[in-house]
Amino acid sequence: MAPAFFAINPKLVDGTPFDPLTTTTTTTNDHPSPIVIWHLVLPSFPSLSLSFSDPTTTTTTTVIPLESDQVTTALDALYPQLSTRCSAGPSLDRLNTCLANHETFSLFLATEVFSTSTSSSTSPLQEPSGVRITKIVGALTLVTLNLLMKSCAHIEDVVVDGSCRGRGLGKGLMRRALDEAVHTHSCVMVDLTSNPNRIEARTLYQSLGFELRDTGVFRYTVPQYRK
Ligand SMILES: CC(C)(COP(=O)(O)OP(=O)(O)OC[C@H]1O[C@@H](n2cnc3c(N)ncnc32)[C@H](O)[C@@H]1OP(=O)(O)O)[C@@H](O)C(=O)NCCC(=O)NCCS
Repeated sequence: MAPAFFAINPKLVDGTPFDPLTTTTTTTNDHPSPIVIWHLVLPSFPSLSLSFSDPTTTTTTTVIPLESDQVTTALDALYPQLSTRCSAGPSLDRLNTCLANHETFSLFLATEVFSTSTSSSTSPLQEPSGVRITKIVGALTLVTLNLLMKSCAHIEDVVVDGSCRGRGLGKGLMRRALDEAVHTHSCVMVDLTSNPNRIEARTLYQSLGFELRDTGVFRYTVPQYRK
């Protein structure tokens, strides 16, 4: 059966490219699996189609196929950690609908990676056979807006599994999203909101250069969704 999703363009949490083809990892208590930040895309994502159809392309895209269960089960565990009002992650239909809007919607995943062998693939689309994503432990959503005078972005739903906090995953997800917003989408500003009780999140955002603004956020909530 064809995989539902692909995880592409792996980077370590510090932002350096991760090459699963040359990295062999043995996981022990002293050497845990590396944490890698991926961009989750549908098989129809443009750069994948390009790599599939044009073997002469010079750009190499590293991809790992992911089954739908692996993604939805992980998000079911992560999203309730964002809010007590959230009892599960998105449905598969919703996830597919959002990912189909790849020009404005990006989902980044922090994952543990286990690599058992190397491959000498010369294809522009590298699917390293011995590399597995063992666990999805963090997620972040980036939404970009193309306005008449500028492009800007919103970061939403930043979450790292309770068992993996304090190891740089949140910062890695944020840096990856900022890089995508600024360099891929030419955004000139990136907004987010964060409840004052979320000390860890607010410290994280400020450490990356986000500044608290006092313009106020106005929100219209559809009456039946008001608390
Ligand atoms: C916010 C969250 C994503 C941070 O993830 P994380 O992987 O633990 O964060 P990192 O390890 O990358 O830490 C990055 C920075 O965050 C801040 N930070 C992290 N944990 C902190 C803590 N317990 N107290 C204060 N600051 C903290 C620090 O500035 C840290 O940088 P430093 O290590 O250089 O000091 C995570 O705590 C989380 O998922 N919380 C629950 C969901 C949530 O609140 N999401 C945000 C919604 S707005």
